[in-house]
Amino acid sequence: CGIVGFTGTREASPVLLEGLRRLEYRGYDSAGLVTGTGADFHLRKKAGRLAELAREVIARPAPGCYGISHTRWATHGGATDRNAHPHLSTDHDIAVVHNGVIENYAALKQQLVADGVAFRSDTDTEVLAHLIARCYDGDLLQAVLQATAMVKGTYGLAVMSRAEPGVIVGARLGSPLVVGIGADGHYLASDASALAGFAEKVVHLGDRQVVQLDETGYVVRTRDFDAVDMPALDIAGFLGDGDAELGDFPHYMLKEIYEQPEALENAMRGRLDVGDATAHFGGLNLSAQQLRQIDRVIFTACGTSYHAGMVGEYLFEELARVPAEVEYASEFRYRNPPIDRNTLIFAITQSGETADTLAALRESKRMGHTTLAICNVVGSSIAREADGGVYLHAGPEVGVASTKAFTTQCAVLAMLALYLGRSRHLSAAQGEKIIADLQALPDVLRETLRCHDRVKAIAAKYADARNVLYLGRQYLYPGALEGALKLKEISYIHAEGYPAAEMKHGPIALVDEQTPSVFLVPRGAVFDKVMSNMQEIKARGGPVIAVASHGDREVAAVADDVIPVPDVPEYLQPIVTAIPLQLLAYEIALLCGCDVDKPRNLAKSVTVE
Ligand code: G6P
Repeated sequence: CGIVGFTGTREASPVLLEGLRRLEYRGYDSAGLVTGTGADFHLRKKAGRLAELAREVIARPAPGCYGISHTRWATHGGATDRNAHPHLSTDHDIAVVHNGVIENYAALKQQLVADGVAFRSDTDTEVLAHLIARCYDGDLLQAVLQATAMVKGTYGLAVMSRAEPGVIVGARLGSPLVVGIGADGHYLASDASALAGFAEKVVHLGDRQVVQLDETGYVVRTRDFDAVDMPALDIAGFLGDGDAELGDFPHYMLKEIYEQPEALENAMRGRLDVGDATAHFGGLNLSAQQLRQIDRVIFTACGTSYHAGMVGEYLFEELARVPAEVEYASEFRYRNPPIDRNTLIFAITQSGETADTLAALRESKRMGHTTLAICNVVGSSIAREADGGVYLHAGPEVGVASTKAFTTQCAVLAMLALYLGRSRHLSAAQGEKIIADLQALPDVLRETLRCHDRVKAIAAKYADARNVLYLGRQYLYPGALEGALKLKEISYIHAEGYPAAEMKHGPIALVDEQTPSVFLVPRGAVFDKVMSNMQEIKARGGPVIAVASHGDREVAAVADDVIPVPDVPEYLQPIVTAIPLQLLAYEIALLCGCDVDKPRNLAKSVTVE
């Protein structure tokens, strides 16, 4: 999941541990490092938290001024000390850390085993260590090139050889890798943020590129061994603005929930054009003609970003009258749906590194479609590879469960729908109304956050539930899915989001006194319909928690508990109702004793397929 390497004039292990710590929030289940002194390697690895590895390094120091390290999110083989990276070749000559998946590892392993190689782990990565060792003939870079030519799959790699002290080789295919240039040496990392304060400049490696670094310099090459002159950019442009510190908040998730009014202001700043009653974006790179020709939009995304895409589907259809669909990136990339030339494809992603979303983007580009990214992380792979896009400007999101990325994604999608709508049928008056609604939103969210105490009390009442239903209609159907996802992710309570009416066709069988339903029922066109659905649940003895318009007595008369939210037009309700749902998940997870910011089994940025 995270890679950090260093070669230079200072001790490597403190740099490696600190770099890994910065990537910790992305989720991992084991960690390890190897350093070198002359021709000796010092390998330390531990299942569990980084603190375990740090303790191990205190007990058994890993000296040396060069080394590579890794936090692992298990794909092949359980989370054990043995399976943690780095992996070594049989005679300990080669050390490898790897992000990604080697898809043909079983065939390669079979061959290696037949040739007498004894494996020490269950990972796909170990295959690489043995392959590189076999290809090694005095030049580590050549060996890495030869070995990677044999593998199918994705990799971000950092490799060392005992025969070449001080040298680190990196290789990238589908999994990010950056080179860092600092005063006291050279770095390699899966994300520039690991190198803040260490490196001054960064070089983003491209796919199929390799790099060799040592204390004095680095060379990037293509697979054909041609040296490539890659721009070294100021690292500051790739870091957050320093606001990733926890401050007075007990958890990043809570901090990020509370940051949403400001995140929304940042996402909208400079983009709303009151004069022309539209929105503007610096980086869309679409001509006026292209804009008018768009006759279909496809959103592709994973997880929470997929739910934002569902909101986008409703927004684009209503505000822009453009047919829109949303697809799980993992499905889209392997389908071959007929897509017309005038279809615009959006990749929605907080991190900009989700492997499936990146692959869906590339597949779309390969077919000649225009691709745009809606992305939070500046300079991420998806941001760089899309034809154009919009940054969320939400600031770093550290909590694994996405919060402010979701609400800013919805706001950006609303602005894009406004922009597209105004190039078509939306009147200036309609545009002005939408702008006013959007401008009011940050303050609306500040007011919404005042529901926290109420939510806390409700959480205490329902924290024992083993199943929870989340129900909403239209714009709030994706809102229900997102609410359920939040609860599942951080409290491990089973939750299911459903269109409120569709619930009759299955999930209603789950309803009993122990199964609460969270209804998203602020006032709007389908209010009465959702009220009927609520009655259907009450009639079967199910407790109901309603997220409803302030002072709504009709809801209060039926629901067991009500969380009031301010009224906004329906297309903004997913943003407003997200707040109590995030807080509910947060409070329940706390009561369940869960690690809110680092839930088990999850990763912040899933760079494997
Ligand atoms: C992981 C995270 C989710 C996130 C999803 C998509 O599963 O745990 O919170 O929604 O990836 O990530 P992205 O960075 O592409 O939005």
